Amino acid sequence: MSNNYQRAGIDTPSWTGRAENPYLRGVYASTVHETTAFDLEVTEGELPADLEGAYVRNGPNAVFEPSALYHWFDGDGMVHGVYFRDGKASYRSRFVRTDDLKAEEEAQRSLWPGIMGPFDFESGRSILKDTGNTDIIHHNGKLLATWYMCGDVHQLDPLTLDSRGKGDFGGKLQSKVSAHPKVDARTGELVYFTLSDEAPFMRYGVVSKDGELVHETPIDLPGPRASHDLTITENYTLLHDFPLFHDVELQRKIGHRVARFFPEIPSRFGVVPRHGGNDQVRWFEFEPTYVLHMVNAWEEGDWIIMDGCAQPDPSIKRRKEEGELASMLGYLRIKAHLHRWCMNLKTGETKESDLDDLNVEFCLPDTERYGSKTRYSYHQQLPVDGYTVEFHALVKYDHEDGTRTRYEYGEGNLASEAPFARRIGAKASDEDDGYVVTIMTNPGWKDYSECWIFRAQEIEKGPITKIKVPARIPPGFHAKWIRGDELWATS
Ligand SMILES: [Fe+2]
Repeated sequence: MSNNYQRAGIDTPSWTGRAENPYLRGVYASTVHETTAFDLEVTEGELPADLEGAYVRNGPNAVFEPSALYHWFDGDGMVHGVYFRDGKASYRSRFVRTDDLKAEEEAQRSLWPGIMGPFDFESGRSILKDTGNTDIIHHNGKLLATWYMCGDVHQLDPLTLDSRGKGDFGGKLQSKVSAHPKVDARTGELVYFTLSDEAPFMRYGVVSKDGELVHETPIDLPGPRASHDLTITENYTLLHDFPLFHDVELQRKIGHRVARFFPEIPSRFGVVPRHGGNDQVRWFEFEPTYVLHMVNAWEEGDWIIMDGCAQPDPSIKRRKEEGELASMLGYLRIKAHLHRWCMNLKTGETKESDLDDLNVEFCLPDTERYGSKTRYSYHQQLPVDGYTVEFHALVKYDHEDGTRTRYEYGEGNLASEAPFARRIGAKASDEDDGYVVTIMTNPGWKDYSECWIFRAQEIEKGPITKIKVPARIPPGFHAKWIRGDELWATS
């Protein structure tokens, strides 16, 4: 197929020769092709007959040569999908065609510096490009790609991955939306938040299962925040306020954003009824920390229990020798471990504890159980003090008996976020009866990647199936599993 990005025989743009930046070269270099491939080759094992649906993953993939310093978070969003149906697997990749990417296509060059600045406050444009590169969820028959700095809701056709314009939730959406909205599989509702540098610094909203915005409220915060996620329970939403934030005045003065950690300020979680307003938010204080991603939250009697990947010291450890890239490389040396926060809605009591010390992030339960008590979750292990972000092992936690199992991917193999895929015919009570699916990349694989399938109940035994995907897929951000019956129902 032809598209604006296809260059015969060339997969990697020539400008990735700005080789001093590790996030522009090797496995991280952009893939300029949009690919469609059917009947993928199974290189190990067999395609499970009881696995139908799609693995979809978003991630950065810069189209035009960066005009300033490049941060891994700056690349244009590209969504990759591996589809499983009738005993065959197929693959597609498509750019998330945001308004800002279209503007750059028109200009045939980068129009925005990245998040490392320098920001242009006089251009009349937003200071950052909405890349739509962060998260991907399935709601109301559409895939929605979202951006962690709050942007448009980019709609994609779930089967073709072609962009289908911006979602406005029945014409009622007035604000931008952050990455990590949650879909409650019981009600079909989508729950979102958004952040701003100006008051109100946060907004919180709910969209019905039919895609109509039914609730939105401003949330009082002391100032702009860098919250990245939210969590839901059956009746409540938990909003995050961590002591890691930037100074807007300083940002205007120096032309880039510096987020500082304030270890003397507590972390806070705002518990709000699903359709509640600002005056119904109840804030609970905890030890200072920062959390990119929560695993899940649920209610147990008067308590709310929430598990996530805590970073007790998220301050950036710059290394002088890394020069102008030091802040990015330092920020991306994530140190996070599994932690539990408990809040009693009746007494106001709080409890918190570390559940493990392994360096893990990109954590997912069975996402159809968001808001309900979950026993299992699947995480990516990261190197401690590594040069770049590398998902080098799969870790499964059993939150009931406090154990974990683990599988090291092997030399050079770098995974993507790995969602759980329920097996067709699995009983609802068998929470881990299914598969864990991921995309694997390797610096030695120049023109292909692999899709690996694990049996969720024995991930430590390694993948049961490997599939060759005829495209180089750079490491990326968030992935989801979409069940076949939901996916084909939209076709
Ligand atoms: Fe994220």
